[in-house]
Amino acid sequence: MKTNALAQTKIRTRGLRTLLLLLLASSAGVSLGNPQHWAAAIAAAASTNISPAAPSSQKLRGPNPKPLQPKEYKRADLAITFPTDGPRSVLVEASRSWRSDIRTHIVAGPAAEVHVRSLKAQGAHRGETFTKLPDFPGYPKALRAALTPLLALGALGAGKFKWLLYGDDDTIWVIPAVLRLLNAAGLNADEPHMLSDYLIQLPDAARPVHSTVTDFVEDPRCRPCPKGQKFCPCRLPPKCTQPDHWAFHNCTFKARLLPYGGVGIIYSVGMLRLLAQNPQFFPSLVFKDVHRREPWGDRVVADAPRIKGFGFTRFQAARAPGVNCSRLFGTFSGFNERSGLEKIATKLQDAAKHQPVNLRATLSMHVRTGPLLEGKRNLVKDYLPYYHKIVRSLYQLHENSTGSDIPALRFP
Ligand SMILES: *[C@@H]1O[C@H](CO)[C@@H](O)[C@H](O)[C@H]1NC(C)=O
Ligand SMILES: *[C@@H]1O[C@H](CO)[C@@H](O)[C@H](O)[C@H]1NC(C)=O
Ligand SMILES: *[C@@H]1O[C@H](CO)[C@@H](O)[C@H](O)[C@H]1NC(C)=O
Repeated sequence: MKTNALAQTKIRTRGLRTLLLLLLASSAGVSLGNPQHWAAAIAAAASTNISPAAPSSQKLRGPNPKPLQPKEYKRADLAITFPTDGPRSVLVEASRSWRSDIRTHIVAGPAAEVHVRSLKAQGAHRGETFTKLPDFPGYPKALRAALTPLLALGALGAGKFKWLLYGDDDTIWVIPAVLRLLNAAGLNADEPHMLSDYLIQLPDAARPVHSTVTDFVEDPRCRPCPKGQKFCPCRLPPKCTQPDHWAFHNCTFKARLLPYGGVGIIYSVGMLRLLAQNPQFFPSLVFKDVHRREPWGDRVVADAPRIKGFGFTRFQAARAPGVNCSRLFGTFSGFNERSGLEKIATKLQDAAKHQPVNLRATLSMHVRTGPLLEGKRNLVKDYLPYYHKIVRSLYQLHENSTGSDIPALRFP
């Protein structure tokens, strides 16, 4: 039964990839017609691919017959994924400085095609793979970001990693800090975990753009962990899992609770398997939810787990001793920050001096390209030098870590 379940997971994730590839292939020559049909096409193609469901305990625990003992995740257990397009694609090479040995799946838009082709001509970089995904007429470009986690699952394969670090192309992950946290909390990657503590709340359906950054950092909706267990997946009360995202009125917390995607989200492979179990579930939700009124990719990626019954895993108790900042994701990133890059670089240098414990614990940083691109600035000249400086600052306190497998930063 167990090997069967594994095979089914493979078929399902492969099914998802196949149907998206079919969809992409069809976009090349055929007239696109009504964009609404794309969702129907995905659903129809997917429905031929559903295997009988396994018993639910097995689903959540995952098919791995011998689950990895917690507290010993290594770099090889991580994978990274992000979308990119246009001039931002220079971040593919730039981010290799800190992710060189970690499997990475990049979902590239049409305006990155020439760049991706030249990257491929230079020879495959270790563990780096690409999906080319067109713009979908009538849909916001953020659709690409929304589809990215499950495209990565399909491309990488559920057996090849334990934790997926999903962010934007301008998200920097601090890998040693990520591993320290996952191991300190002893989280089981075969269970459905979604991690972020940079949460925003949307209390009003009539104002879907308005948001409030939470002053608490732990999901207030989670049911308590089983007795004797300090950390567990965040199981939501049934009244918090309505298919309608705005139907939170009977939930214990009366707002949509979403992550700030720019500082990234960490998914366990168990969570991704759950989202891919019914291959039409996630793509259908994406095509329904990412629209002109809510043109963001980082909403559906947390609403989908919520509908499946899971919120954000509570992990604050696993913080390193002495850490006293409010959050570990994007500790030094403002929400949609517009400060100049020089100012951000200085902020990190100050942090290294005055709050090294907090800097060492920070998991990620969003170094936004948006403001520069709006000002038609050149990323290679005006952005990358700061990006590299910021990477150095985020990693400086990890460079002499002992007993780990941290390679030196390698800048292009
Ligand atoms: C909340 O519960 C009440 C009473 O059961 C019900 O009438 C109402 O429709 C529910 N609201 C939502 C948004 O689910
Ligand atoms: C955090 O701790 C440091 C001492 O290690 C202290 O100087 C600082 O004021 C504290 N910050 C907060 C926000 O409590
Ligand atoms: C790491 O070790 C080198 C060589 O011993 C030393 O120069 C450097 O200051 C150390 N860095 C940190 C952050 O401790």
